[in-house]
Amino acid sequence: MADLMPELLDADGACQLLVNGEWRGARGGTLEARSPIDGSLVGRTAAADAQDVEEVVNAGAEAWPAWQEAGYSRRADVLHAAAECMREERERLVHLLTEEIAKTRGSAEEEVDRTADLIDYFAEEGRRFYGEIIFADSFPGQPRTKVCQVYSEPLGAVLAISPFNYPLNLSASKIAPALITGNAVVFKPAARGAIAALHMCECFRRGGAPPGVLNAITGKASVIGDALCGHPKVDMVSFTGSTAVGRHIAHVAGMKAMLTELGGKDAALVLEDADLDLAAEQIVKGAFSYSGQRCTAVKRVVAVEAVADRLAAGIVERARRLQPGDPRQPVTALGPLIDDRAADFVQELIDDALEKGASALCGNRREGRYLEATVLDGVTEEMRVAWEEPFGPVLPMLRVAGLEEAIALANRSEYGLQSCVFTRDLDRAFYVGRRLDVGTVNVNGRDSRGPDHFPFVGRKASGMGTQGVHYSIEAMTRTKSIVLNLRLPQD
Ligand code: G3H
Repeated sequence: MADLMPELLDADGACQLLVNGEWRGARGGTLEARSPIDGSLVGRTAAADAQDVEEVVNAGAEAWPAWQEAGYSRRADVLHAAAECMREERERLVHLLTEEIAKTRGSAEEEVDRTADLIDYFAEEGRRFYGEIIFADSFPGQPRTKVCQVYSEPLGAVLAISPFNYPLNLSASKIAPALITGNAVVFKPAARGAIAALHMCECFRRGGAPPGVLNAITGKASVIGDALCGHPKVDMVSFTGSTAVGRHIAHVAGMKAMLTELGGKDAALVLEDADLDLAAEQIVKGAFSYSGQRCTAVKRVVAVEAVADRLAAGIVERARRLQPGDPRQPVTALGPLIDDRAADFVQELIDDALEKGASALCGNRREGRYLEATVLDGVTEEMRVAWEEPFGPVLPMLRVAGLEEAIALANRSEYGLQSCVFTRDLDRAFYVGRRLDVGTVNVNGRDSRGPDHFPFVGRKASGMGTQGVHYSIEAMTRTKSIVLNLRLPQD
């Protein structure tokens, strides 16, 4: 068992729910958290039921009005203190990310540091986020004595549902904007990674978040998911995860505000004038870091035929260096996938492509959840891997005759998260950038959500609403206007 913060734990050492500022057990018992590395027990989390949902949501709904009144400066102090606590707890958090979700030490360290910085950044951006005053006389025929004060007010209780792959960063990217703007949060982490995420909640508690302002609930999604999303006292749902689950949540949530980041099939377009070394290096990094379990992983290469062979050779040379293994060992570049089902799904996509005529340039070897970095060439549109999101270490290559075909193929995806384009011609880069139906186009670099203050937005089945520090703050507030009709002496 991992070394856990004592505040979170019950007498048997299981992590509890955070309700109204206190850690307490759930009515449905506990769930085991086992490591994807070797199946060992990392810890146990509380299994909430419908009554726990009621109490957690009520705690948030009752807490936010006073939190709003506390003001930006007080709220910013709490965020800074939480970030500081995370830095103090860095070693424990890194260890948990490695054990719970099999991140390599390097990427676990990066996540902890990036998240503490992100929370600080939210605090500072929040201080700068205030309303405006509009004078009526800028509209024809209106007097200067009519004045509109525009406030940005919190939405109320925000339900934050985070995925397994960034238990700290993708949770903080929902919790911090909600808190800095005066909302309360009901936080539901994914089952895998929940222990690390709960430790971050304890940092907010230690940092002075008042009771009820940040609540955390764990348990089976089948038991608590709909009750949370459909609860009438939840005012907003912020969710990162699959498109199928996102659609279901939107259906259950009804008229609530939504901010979602869903599936993707990010394409790397490689044109004939590209720097092929740079393209191969960035594509391999983009496709295989954290074993491809990133929403912004490069999930297909669309290469112009004239350079496809040379590009493939560069990709394969680099992919072969990434041997799967225990992520606790410093030499390991590819850890195991999060569970057996995820590994089975990736293998299914590979097998389907090979049966339909693709060739594996490297990889396609598997031991349980451990898969080699697999590059597939000769992939055609009939193959599932051309369209489906593997969330694992397989990279399909599709060949095209030229620029227009590359753009059309990239845009045929149901998803529209990010894309990258490799070319030495900036005019063409902008041309491609303008025509791709995605939220972000990266020129001569891999796809990435970060830095975290850049806008992050998916089109089509990839999500709704824009995230990124300033944008998330905007998304978690609504406008209130108070109009003054002054009676000045000159009137
Ligand atoms: O998995 C989804 C994340 O938003 C990806 O973030 O591009 O910073 O790795 P990243």
